Amino acid sequence: SIRCQSTNTKEPKSSNILDNASNLFTNLLSGGSLGSMPTAEGAVSDLFGKPLFLSLYDWFMEHGGVYKLAFGPKAFVVISDPIVARHVLRENAFSYDKGVLAEILEPIMGKGLIPADLDTWKLRRRAITPAFHALYLEAMVKVFSDCSEKMILKSEKLLREKEVSSGEGDTEIELDLEAEFSSLALDIIGLSVFNYDFGSVTKESPVIKAVYGTLFEAEHRSTFYFPYWNFPPARWIVPRQRKFQSDLKIINDCLDGLIQNAKETRQETDVEKLQQRDYSNLKDASLLRFLVDMRGLRDDLMTMLIAGHETTAAVLTWAVYLLAQSPAKIRKAQAEIDAVLGDGAPTYESLKKLEYIRLIVVESLRLYPQPPLLIRRTLKPETLPGGYKGEKEGHKVPKGTDIFISVYNLHRSPYFWDNPQEFEPERFLRKKESNGIEGWAGFDPSRSPGALYPNEIIADFAFLPFGGGPRKCIGDQFALMESTVALAMLLQKFDVELRGPPESVELVSGATIHAKNGMWCKLKRRSK
Ligand code: HEM
Repeated sequence: SIRCQSTNTKEPKSSNILDNASNLFTNLLSGGSLGSMPTAEGAVSDLFGKPLFLSLYDWFMEHGGVYKLAFGPKAFVVISDPIVARHVLRENAFSYDKGVLAEILEPIMGKGLIPADLDTWKLRRRAITPAFHALYLEAMVKVFSDCSEKMILKSEKLLREKEVSSGEGDTEIELDLEAEFSSLALDIIGLSVFNYDFGSVTKESPVIKAVYGTLFEAEHRSTFYFPYWNFPPARWIVPRQRKFQSDLKIINDCLDGLIQNAKETRQETDVEKLQQRDYSNLKDASLLRFLVDMRGLRDDLMTMLIAGHETTAAVLTWAVYLLAQSPAKIRKAQAEIDAVLGDGAPTYESLKKLEYIRLIVVESLRLYPQPPLLIRRTLKPETLPGGYKGEKEGHKVPKGTDIFISVYNLHRSPYFWDNPQEFEPERFLRKKESNGIEGWAGFDPSRSPGALYPNEIIADFAFLPFGGGPRKCIGDQFALMESTVALAMLLQKFDVELRGPPESVELVSGATIHAKNGMWCKLKRRSK
């Protein structure tokens, strides 16, 4: 149960013996020092009625930027304050590891960058970062647009078929765009990371099924109450765990084969070209080519496959959801696309001119951050800084404390954003003072000169779409460009509407925020 304790009064509201015993246990676990922290009140029903991150928002409004959430004997600290988030993610980053998240992901990603312990992470991050340099990204824009084109051609074909069968000229099709974007993002990550064509926009294969199965299991593990999968016989007894093991084997065999192939077919000239960052006339510019000599490569390929797939698909899904409710914004976006691209495909140079589309992508990430929560655990006793309310001293948290940084709360905080619940892509062009909040620098686009997309520096950690500090997402620019290309190419050809009312789209969340029954949309050929 979620323990009930009032925020500002000293008396716990709970009166039964079990609750009091659980209070005592929590305080023992946390050394008692979380005791002065506001504690979320709630009922278990809050957890089942809606996704956890939405309940965390309600409690944020009630208890402020740092509060404690207790599940029976277990307590989490929830942070919705940019000053405290900046401390945890950047200023004191190495005092935390990924805690629960690493426990969930380790069986899938091994020692890949996301779950990696600090020593492993330092070596790997240093090796992988150079692979994502600007010239690689430039070369990948072609992959983004080729894959997006396949999705567009498939939709056009469906439209034509419908026109032929109905005998009507000007018709529309209904598509679950969440599923379409998921296939698209999988194809893109396959080609650009390991030069493997999943071809999932047009077909199904055992590897694709295994990738979805693995994602599904990661999601299950992140939302299940106790880690029964750590009990070894569960691997054989529980059918879904058996399936998970076999899915993992399919993907790992595929990745091992690709690594082997990359080693055998390596050409010294290619390697030299990559090292000199010369992408001209390279047949295979994938990250795998660049990283083929790295130890433990398979874990990192798996990590990038999982990390770069659902997240990007989710950004596109929610961008469409938001746009579909705002036809004027669709028209504005299309006017920009027509002016910059005409009928052509986006290029690296033209992306720079698609300013409004880029802002739509980041504004969608503000309203629907993927993932909505970042997870950390203290490696030693810590003192958090005072937050935006001007507290001089923050809370003391003992070693082993689990922390949620609620990116969703930060992104919709009324303390840092005007009209926080509204979809206003242009907001990122405006400078905003710090509202008199000591320790928060306000919002200033000029703080990150040359950045194509607004980032956490511009908003001094009130905007964290890719995290921040040393463990910030390594694929941020890749994902933003990919989303910009895909969205521009969709709107270049189609008008999009939701199939039902926006309220009928139900949120569910695992690692990312999904639409429970898909994002069903109507696609019509554009009326120019
Ligand atoms: C880390 C978001 C796309 C690879 C992260 C983190 C966030 C994030 C918030 C930080 C996690 C934390 O601090 O706990 C996103 C979003 C994406 C996206 C919203 C799409 C819109 C990608 C892509 C790749 C990727 C395309 C790779 C091709 C990674 C890796 C890390 C990471 C390897 C771990 C970095 C480290 O710990 O050093 N991502 N990501 N992500 N992401 Fe992404």
